[in-house]
Order: sequence, then structure tokens, then C-alpha cells
Amino acid sequence: MSAYVIQGGERLNGSVKIEGSKNAVLPILAASLINGQKTTLYNCPDLKDVSVTLNILGLIGCKVERSSDRLVIDTSTLKTSEVPEKLVREMRSSVIIMGAMLTRMKKVVLGYPGGCEIGIRPIDLHISSLRALGAKIIETGGYLYCEAEKIYGADINLDFPSVGATENIMLAAVSAEGTTIIRNAAREPEVVDLQNFLNAIGGRISGAGTNIIRIDGVKNFNPVEYSVIPDRIVAGTYLIMAAATNGDIEITDIIPEHLSSILFKLKEAGCKLNVEKDRIQLLSPKRLKAVEAVKTLPYPGFPTDLQAPFLSLMTLASGTSVITENIFENRLKHVGELIKMGAKITTEGRTAIVKGVKKLHGAKVDAKDLRGGAALITAGLTAEGETTVYDVQHIDRGYELIDRKLQSLGAKIMKIND
Ligand code: UD1
Repeated sequence: MSAYVIQGGERLNGSVKIEGSKNAVLPILAASLINGQKTTLYNCPDLKDVSVTLNILGLIGCKVERSSDRLVIDTSTLKTSEVPEKLVREMRSSVIIMGAMLTRMKKVVLGYPGGCEIGIRPIDLHISSLRALGAKIIETGGYLYCEAEKIYGADINLDFPSVGATENIMLAAVSAEGTTIIRNAAREPEVVDLQNFLNAIGGRISGAGTNIIRIDGVKNFNPVEYSVIPDRIVAGTYLIMAAATNGDIEITDIIPEHLSSILFKLKEAGCKLNVEKDRIQLLSPKRLKAVEAVKTLPYPGFPTDLQAPFLSLMTLASGTSVITENIFENRLKHVGELIKMGAKITTEGRTAIVKGVKKLHGAKVDAKDLRGGAALITAGLTAEGETTVYDVQHIDRGYELIDRKLQSLGAKIMKIND
């Protein structure tokens, strides 16, 4: 098991290029099954979740080549509709392979997906939506057996704007007979990126980015070259880390519009931001101000994926912040670890009340999940003394070479094999 060892107290300073988006590339990799031809992707982050998905594609017969951030995937050699169980259980987002495989193979057998330990994370919306499109799905013995001789366009109203369910519907409906309408669709930028990718291979989808998406089924698809959007969560995390260390950094190769809710909160905390077309410079004040209320919401609200790093930032602000997690029911596991480092936090249900302190101190802490792990690194960068963050395999699922990127900004962080 690896750990990150951090000597706190260094100001982050310099420029960092932000990698491609994990949450955009994963559904796009599933979508590459649909054309049954060659897909070339640029700006692909080198992450555990990406390599798990590529392994799945490889094991079901696809050819994958990687050179730096470029991936070439040939899905013409796909040979089975049975997705290997072990890998699916490693990663919850593999559930979106279901929609893509239904389009390509008309059937799929999938182990029940696993993933980050941040709540129950049911997939009922995925299943009911695919059923509405005509798929027969049987859940038995830890497997999902799905079949659809034909997919028919349907009008689907999601109970909640689930990102994954919206994507799964798009993947299944892209070649449906007729038109599909998704109401109360997720509006996340990653959904827009999937629409753009599917349209680039020949799909006819419009409306992504709003809460109504229209998918007109098409029959023919073509090969494609496509560049994945930058990772807004990684971008937000580096800004938060810079703010926490009284730093002055520039993040580049980003789409600032995707970051508007976090930029708003960073300004409220007293940071100065200089926003340009594809980059943002952040200068943090000597002492941050507490942001009174932060509530996570579907996009364009404050992202649940930045709740943990932002909560960590608020442990050092002057005043009290009230942070409420509305998307996942068990996403405050970092609180207990931050308390070990001297943070003053109490929780009531899904709400954390954070009383800012002047200093945190180093401690040995455990990353319980991906973004909670990033929150602990944030705290470690500012803390007095040494912090060891264990279980970093969670962090490596979503941040490419985070230790090296932070080192290049002046942080004292090292990865060790414990
Ligand atoms: C995606 C992101 C994740 C992010 C989340 C919310 C990927 C790979 N992951 O996850 O980083 O935190 O969006 O922005 O893109 N739900 C149901 N039934 C379902 C599906 C979801 O009840 O069938 C619930 C979930 O339990 C959760 C909420 O809906 O409480 C949001 O989940 P969803 O938007 O689906 O998140 P993911 O797509 O899993």
C-alpha cells in the first residue's frame, strides 16, 4: 500500500496544466464501443479508473493503444457481450457500459458495479430508464442480464438528474428506433462532452447542458478523432490547495465557465482571481474568510466532488462555515480525519459545521474515498509538521501524478510504499 508523506507549510507557487476529465473520458470510452470502428482520443488522463476501463475493453476483444495522452481504440474486434466481473466491481461507473453494449451487441451481462464508498449509490434510475427504452433486464445472483432485440425511443422523466443515468440513456438511445426525450436530465459538462462525442461519430443528440435532451436514433456511425474536456474537479482542487497554502498559482488548459460555482466561493473566501480564456490565476489572502453556507447540488450548483477539498480549506478560515452534502448520503468521512489534524468540525446528518482554526498539525490519516483523500492532502499541505495520508489508491483513481504536480508547485510531498 502506498502513502503520501507531506511536510506542510510550503506556499504553492507556479503554473500547472490540468489533465483531461476522468468523468468525461469514462463514458466516452464506453461510447467508443458503438461505432465498431477506430476512435482516437486526445487529452486522456492517465488514471486507475481509465486503465480499468481500458482493461475491460481489452478483455472483451477491443484493441487499445496508448501513447502519452493519446488513445487509439479499435472496437471492430469486440468478441463478447459478457463483461468481466472483477473489473466491473472495481468501478461503479462501469455501469455505463450497459447502454453502449445494448446499442452495439443488443445484449450484455454485467457484474453488479462497485466503486467509491460514499453511499449506497443505487442504479435503479439506470435500470428503469433502459427498461423504458425496451430493454429486458434481470438482476440475479450479483449479475445484470440485459437484452434488447430493438431499442425504442421513449419519453423519460428522471426522478433525479443523475449523471450516469443520463449518460446511459444517451448511449442506449443513440441508435434507437425513433426519438428519446430525457427530462430532468443532468446538465454536467461531462454530459455535454458525451453528446459532442456521440454526434462526432454520427449521432443526432441535442439539448445536453439543459435539463431536456433529445436523441434521434440513427443507424450508421463513423470513426472519430476527439479531444476530451479538461477536468473541472481537478482544476478546482488545485485552486483550493493553492488557496489553503496562501499560494499564488495559475491553472492552464481549462474551461473557466465549468468552474463558476467554485470560483464564486473562492472569491467569497477572499481569494483574488484573474480569469482568462483557458486559464485562471489565483492569489490567496493571508487569512481566508469563512464562507457561511455551501450546499452541494447538481451542476451548475456547487459540485459534490469539491465538497471535501473545500471543507478542508474552510478548517483554516476565520469564522464558521456550514457545509451541506445534498448529493450523496455518506460523503463526510474526511471530517474524522481532519479532526485528527486539529480541525474543529461537528456534523449533524449531512451537514458539517466548520469552525476555522489558525493552524492544523500533521497526523497519520486515511483517505476513505477519492475526493476525501484530496481533502487530506490539502490539509497536509498547510499543516505544521508531517502528514501521512494512507490508502492513496483512492486518490490515484482521480488525480494524475498529483505528487509530481504538487512538487512542481513547490510542495514537499512524496509517495512511499508502506
Ligand atoms: C457522477 C460522477 C461523480 C459525481 C456524481 C455527482 C462519474 C464517473 N462520476 O457519478 O464523480 O460525484 O456524478 O455529480 O461521472 N442515484 C440513484 N439512482 C440511480 C443513480 C443515481 O438514486 O440510478 C443517486 C445516487 O445515489 C446519488 C445521486 O443520485 O445520490 C447522484 O448520482 P449520479 O449523478 O448518478 O452520480 P454518478 O453518475 O454515479
